[in-house]
Amino acid sequence: MRVLILGGDGFCGWPTALHLSARGCEIGIVDNLSRRDIDAELGVQSLTPIEPLGARIEAWREIGGETIDYFPLTLGRDYDELLALIGEWRPDAVVHFAEQRAAPYSMKSSKHKRYTVRNNVCATHDVLAAIVESERDVHLVHLGTMGVYGYGATAGAIPEGYLKVMIESDGVLVEREILHPVSPGSIYHLTKTQDQLLFQFYAKNDSLRITDLHQGIVWGCQTEETRADPRLVNRFDYDGDYGTVLNRFLIQAAVGHPLTIHGSGGQTRAFINIQDTVRCVALALSRPPQAGERVKILNQMTECWRVRDLGGMVARLTGAAVEFVANPRNEASENELAACNQTLIGLGLEPITLEAGLMTDIVEIARAHADRADLSKIPSAATWNAERAAVLAADSAEERLRAV
Ligand SMILES: NC(=O)c1ccc[n+]([C@@H]2O[C@H](COP(=O)([O-])OP(=O)(O)OC[C@H]3O[C@@H](n4cnc5c(N)ncnc54)[C@H](O)[C@@H]3O)[C@@H](O)[C@H]2O)c1
Repeated sequence: MRVLILGGDGFCGWPTALHLSARGCEIGIVDNLSRRDIDAELGVQSLTPIEPLGARIEAWREIGGETIDYFPLTLGRDYDELLALIGEWRPDAVVHFAEQRAAPYSMKSSKHKRYTVRNNVCATHDVLAAIVESERDVHLVHLGTMGVYGYGATAGAIPEGYLKVMIESDGVLVEREILHPVSPGSIYHLTKTQDQLLFQFYAKNDSLRITDLHQGIVWGCQTEETRADPRLVNRFDYDGDYGTVLNRFLIQAAVGHPLTIHGSGGQTRAFINIQDTVRCVALALSRPPQAGERVKILNQMTECWRVRDLGGMVARLTGAAVEFVANPRNEASENELAACNQTLIGLGLEPITLEAGLMTDIVEIARAHADRADLSKIPSAATWNAERAAVLAADSAEERLRAV
C-alpha cells in the first residue's frame, strides 16, 4: 500500500511513517516543518535531540529501512502542488496529522487563534478537495481528538462519533443517528469540530472514504522503530504550550520540581500510548469504509485518568511532591469521562497501560535527557480569557509576597 503521511515529521506522524514502512507500505511524507519553526518561536526544543527530517530518513535507510519520499509542502496554501502530488505519487491512502495541535498555543493571542484556524481548516479542506479533483480512490485517515465531545456531563460512555436520538416528525417519534454534539474547549479543538463537518460533507457529496480517529492525549515517546537508532528518536515536548500534562509531570519529577496540577486536578481525560497510536493507524488503514458509507469514526483512546490521580501515580513512582496551581484554562474543575473504544479493541489492539509503561518513559526519556530541559518553559502561560488571566496574575502576586 502506498501511504502519504501528512505531518510526517511530527510527534505522531514520524513513528507512524516508520511503523508502516517496516510493515511493507511505501511511504511519502508531506510536511512544511512548521512545528520546528514553532519551537524556534517559543524558544524551546524537544527534550530528546531530534535530527533534521532528511537525516532521519537517511538513518532509516542506513539501518535497512525502505526509502521514504519527502515533499516539503504547506497544506492549505500549496494546493496545485498537492493535487499534482496525489496524481503523480498515486497514494492508496493519505494519513492526515498536519495540523497545529496545541490547545494552549491556539489560545495565546489573536495571532495564534487566526493561524490555527487558517492552518487547520484550510489544510483539511485542501486535502479533501484535492482527493476529489484527482479522481483517485484514496482512503483518508484523519487524526481528530476526543476533545471534540467536550468534557461536560455525559450519559454513560461516549459512543464512537454518532449518537442515537429520537426526533419528533409529524407527531411521531423517529430514531435517528446524528454526529455526536460537539463542545470544543479551545480554538484548536474548535478546528477539529470544523474538520468533522468537512468530512461529513465530502463523504456524502463525493463518496470519499474517510476514517476520523478521535484520539486521546498521547503519552510516551518511543516506538519499536524509533528506538532502533538514536537518529530516529521521536520528539518529546515538555513546555507549557506543547507539553501535555503527563510529559510535564515526568520532566518535573526528573529534575526534582513539584508536579504542578492545574486547579483541583479533577479534570478527567482520555489517554493512549504512542506505540498504540501507530498500531491504531495501521488497523484503521486495514479496514477502510466503503465508498458511499458515512465517515467511520473511532475513539482512539485506551484509558481515562483524573489529572490529580495521574500526578499521584507519577509522585508514587518517582517520590516527587505535588503542588496545586491556578488553572489557566476555562474548563470544568471536575468532570467524569468514559468512552467506548470497542472498534479498535475488536480489531486486536492490546493497550499499553500507563501503570505498566510509565516507568520506561521516566528512565528512558525524562531522566536521560533532564539536562536539556529549560525549567522556565514548563509553566502553561497561555490563559483562556481575561478572567483566567486575572486569576493567574493574582496567584503569582501572592506567590511573590510569600517569597519575601
Ligand atoms: N499529540 C497528541 O497528544 C494528540 C492527541 C490527539 C490528537 N492529536 C492529533 O494528531 C495530529 C498530530 O499530532 P502531533 O502531536 O504529531 O503534532 P505535531 O505538531 O508534532 O505534528 C504535526 C506535523 O504537521 C506539520 N504541519 C502542520 N501544519 C502543516 C501544514 N499546513 N502543512 C504541512 N505540514 C504541516 C508540522 O510541521 C508537524 O511536523 C494532530 O492533528 C493532532 O491534533 C494529537
